[in-house]
Amino acid sequence: MAVSVSRRGAVEPFHAMDVLAEANRLIAAGTDVVSMAVGQPYDPAPAAVRRAAASALERGRIGYTDALGLATLRAAIATHYEQHYGIELAPERVAVTTGSSAGFNLAFLAMFDTGDRVAIAAPGYPAYRNIMAALGIDVVEIDLEGSPYLSADRLAAAHRENPLKGVLFASPANPTGAVIPPEELRRLVESAEEAGIAVISDEIYHRLAYDVPDTTALAYGRGVTVINSFSKYYCMTGWRIGWMVLPEALVRPVERIAQSLYISAPELSQIAAIEAFHASEELERVKARYASNRDLLAHRLPELGFALAAPMDGAFYAFCDVSQLTNDSMEFARRMLNEAHVAATPGRDFDPQHGHRYMRFSYAGSHRDMEEALARIERWLR
Ligand SMILES: Cc1ncc(COP(=O)(O)O)c(C=O)c1O
Repeated sequence: MAVSVSRRGAVEPFHAMDVLAEANRLIAAGTDVVSMAVGQPYDPAPAAVRRAAASALERGRIGYTDALGLATLRAAIATHYEQHYGIELAPERVAVTTGSSAGFNLAFLAMFDTGDRVAIAAPGYPAYRNIMAALGIDVVEIDLEGSPYLSADRLAAAHRENPLKGVLFASPANPTGAVIPPEELRRLVESAEEAGIAVISDEIYHRLAYDVPDTTALAYGRGVTVINSFSKYYCMTGWRIGWMVLPEALVRPVERIAQSLYISAPELSQIAAIEAFHASEELERVKARYASNRDLLAHRLPELGFALAAPMDGAFYAFCDVSQLTNDSMEFARRMLNEAHVAATPGRDFDPQHGHRYMRFSYAGSHRDMEEALARIERWLR
């Protein structure tokens, strides 16, 4: 038997997904687990989205679409930029993707060659590093060293050491929830573009900042690539639907790669997603619940020994320094799951160097689950 396994297959696992799989095994075996491991909204997609999907199914045939997506959805996304950010955007610059995850593949493949140096922040979302590593891109992790977000100065220092081809950041960020203030974002984008560093802005947690309005990196740079998704604010994780906003020069390269890699994003999800932009009332109620979960966790986690390591400006994560409790967050998370039946994510996913001291708790669940998880952790620690 000849089995060939590439070096790419040796990519670091996404530990949050491994924790989720372990939690699901426990649940299947009859254990009542509260999961705070994955950034997944508790609520279903908005009612209008589900109704649109149901009537599309009733009508029948679901097929391929243009590789860059249905014209109606691309136009709805462009309108959203006008309404939400006051930015005029040609629908031709929008590419609909199979979640933002496919957006990363497309952006990295269309923008970078093997061996190009691309910067990300540590801690940061692990798939950036894992996808780039699998594609042979040289990932440069810039240690935030206690600062909540990547600054123009830190980026410039990394570029001086060895020139960068690109930079990718998220605001609000995962796992920290940190939001880059508009003036800092402007400096970051403008100085990157001046230095010839291509910018990718992951805006998947937009509409989920609690105290500040959203600012898109598109406002500050003509060459910026934005990646976004219906997964988080719009509660559509399993629909696998997201989008990119591309500089004109990248539209055709992304289209060519998307044609062969994915053919198109699922048509059913595309039809349904159009309605997501009309569901703000329902979605703002969901966001209000996140805000109350956030208040609860911000108050209770530090009391239990989980010091908040980041400001919780947005998204739905509490990133905690657990060094009062353990020096091995991976083992701690495993024990917490098996003994307290609460799943949370070890920091290793987000930061290979310092992650052993951190854990991330997602508060996208129900308020009752948050209360129950905290009570279980408290009993377990005693
Ligand atoms: C920062 C960030 N970007 C992208 C994703 C991927 O989302 P999706 O592929 O569902 O759009 C996630 C998921 O947790 C995330 O946290």
